[in-house]
Amino acid sequence: MKILAIETSCDETGIAILEYSAGSDITLLGNVLASQIELHAQYGGVFPTMAKRAHAEKIVPLLTEVLDQAYLLDVATVVVDHAASLSFLDEKELALKDMLAPFLTYYEKRDIDYIAVTVGPGLEPALWVGINAARALSVVWDIPVIAINHMEGHIVTALFEHPEETVFVQKEINYPLLALLVSGGHTELVLSSSRGEYQKIGQTRDDAVGEAFDKVARMLGLPYPGGPAISRLAAQWRSSARSDLAEKINPFTLPRPMLHSPDYDFSFSGIKTATLYAIRDLGRALTEQDKMAIACAFEDAVVEVLIKKTLKAAQEYNAQTIIVGGGVASNTYLREQLQKALREIKNIDLRGLYLLFPEPWLATDNAVMIGLAAMTQIRNEQIKTAAPSELRADGNLSL
Ligand code: KG4
Ligand code: ZN
Repeated sequence: MKILAIETSCDETGIAILEYSAGSDITLLGNVLASQIELHAQYGGVFPTMAKRAHAEKIVPLLTEVLDQAYLLDVATVVVDHAASLSFLDEKELALKDMLAPFLTYYEKRDIDYIAVTVGPGLEPALWVGINAARALSVVWDIPVIAINHMEGHIVTALFEHPEETVFVQKEINYPLLALLVSGGHTELVLSSSRGEYQKIGQTRDDAVGEAFDKVARMLGLPYPGGPAISRLAAQWRSSARSDLAEKINPFTLPRPMLHSPDYDFSFSGIKTATLYAIRDLGRALTEQDKMAIACAFEDAVVEVLIKKTLKAAQEYNAQTIIVGGGVASNTYLREQLQKALREIKNIDLRGLYLLFPEPWLATDNAVMIGLAAMTQIRNEQIKTAAPSELRADGNLSL
């Protein structure tokens, strides 16, 4: 059984093809990803209308490439004009139609069983491009569509081992599972008591953690996306502080908002504002040392809040497994500190707690995670197909 998965919720256009046959592992037959990072870097963030246009330009070339990788690109023997079946694209998706119609005319129906597409959460104009492409393929090729929640993709990805470049094996895990989902758009704690069942127990009340990384990076004159750049500077500060004979004290300290609040919510806008004030109060241009120290103070504050709240929730809900997903899950310091916190845990209930991270290349947005979420639904017999005309983008879709 083969799935074609499409992801366009933010600034990455991804398409992947995965195959599964009963009793065997999942094989990745093709995977392509076009990043819009350079486009958005000039503005320091993602603009939905620009993201939409960039997705629409990329979908067909990527589709051609991924089908070719999977040896599924066959030239049509009979040329059929599908323009009439694609009339639903006329109003808002003409650019996509102009590329999809000739593609569907000249290439034949593929050996694909399902199309999986992200329907939310994310930027609605961007989501619609993926959804409309899925709808067009579904109508013309007569293939059912599975609507996928992007956050389920982030969770499920951490549940797979990846022993070879193209092989994915589901790990045996114990429930309850607690997922810390940290990305440019989200910061939430999700509890899963059994496979495919999710309950959000906390979330950010203002900025997402990735967004805070991006905004602080901007204050420091670092490029978008800010997470990797901040993390590199913070690591430089820590290693220079360690190698100094008299251990260097960081002159910057930042608050830990909501660290002791009784719930599992987060707030990151206060750390961001405090960073802005700390820079302003310096009253001079930032030196490279200042930037490193601020990056480190920021990462320390954010990571401490994320870890303390996650462990508190793990204890209350008796979690057996913790997974971290989303772009910020590729943060090395968060990974190290969470592993360390678990090793040092004294609480008997939390010993044996299993910690899982996706591989860094699967932590940021991609279509493999959407395909894995669909595969998981199929294998759990929880599959929910949607009629193509009923597919809707939902920017605030919840788990
Ligand atoms: O999941 P993702 O690719 O897209 C969204 O769904 O938002 O996450 C992107 C976010 C960006 O804000 C980026 O700065 C952050 O993840 N990020 C990181 C790191 N790598 C990416 N944040 C901290 N440390 C990193 N190494
Ligand atoms: Zn994401």
